[in-house]
Amino acid sequence: MLSEKQKLDTLMLLGIELNRIHDLDILLERVLTRARQFVNADAGSIYIRQGDRLIFAQSQNDTLQSKLPVGEKLIYQTFSVAVDPTSIAGYAAATGKLLNIPDVYTLSPDKRYQFSRRFDQASGYVTRSMLTIPLITSKKEILGILQIINAQDHEKRIRPFSQTDEKVMLHFAGMAAVALERAQMTRAMILRMIRMAEMRDPRETGPHVNRVADFSLEIYEHWARRRHIPEKEIDKTRDVLRMAAMLHDVGKVATSDLILKKPTQLSSEEYEVMKQHTIQAPDSFPMFSPITMKRPPSSP
Ligand SMILES: [Fe+2]
Repeated sequence: MLSEKQKLDTLMLLGIELNRIHDLDILLERVLTRARQFVNADAGSIYIRQGDRLIFAQSQNDTLQSKLPVGEKLIYQTFSVAVDPTSIAGYAAATGKLLNIPDVYTLSPDKRYQFSRRFDQASGYVTRSMLTIPLITSKKEILGILQIINAQDHEKRIRPFSQTDEKVMLHFAGMAAVALERAQMTRAMILRMIRMAEMRDPRETGPHVNRVADFSLEIYEHWARRRHIPEKEIDKTRDVLRMAAMLHDVGKVATSDLILKKPTQLSSEEYEVMKQHTIQAPDSFPMFSPITMKRPPSSP
């Protein structure tokens, strides 16, 4: 639990911290972690707006996480809700208003929005207090929703979110929206480049790059933790690594069609050429060059 002084220090440096993160997923993860730390909340989620839907993009839950073996991550189903006043997140996105609900199970039935018990029923978790804040840019565009669940007191008892929590989170959400807008632009640029690679190899570049990015991060995190690399260094590298991994297929523009589009199995020589696409891409983006991925002197 952060002390009041730590909270103030973190809040003052938050803009700088969030603006250092380039990758959208890493940013969402950090926004949620920090938001929960400020109000000592057990769980939370972030939804990203895509047209008239809110896509469930990030979730954290300390209680459920503590029941898993060390190093294992919670698995969530991706789903979406409509931007309309029937759900809590939908209401906040449709109206731009913050919702502070002391207990979602005693929500008055005449409210337009109602709490969906599906997640609690499936996971065995009990949601009580909930603070839902829209992420609004300076141009009044709603990028998504930050939802913080089950604030805790010093004895880990669930408490309602206070008015101070609301104020801190509104300030926090403003800074998060600025960083989110920038990260979404970077992600859009990366996706355009991936589409360029897809024109060369339309078979499955999209899902493939996402898979490579997820695997790369998993491998790196295990590798780095075993070598006791400082968390700050790990965070920085994860950010660059995720984007670099997503861009690796751009190197396919330099691979011959004879190999790339060969319908039968590649020979071992052709396979060696094919593997080069992962090296061709970082060469085109010096910021993602392996040289920027620092290694401690003792590592292999
Ligand atoms: Fe690839």
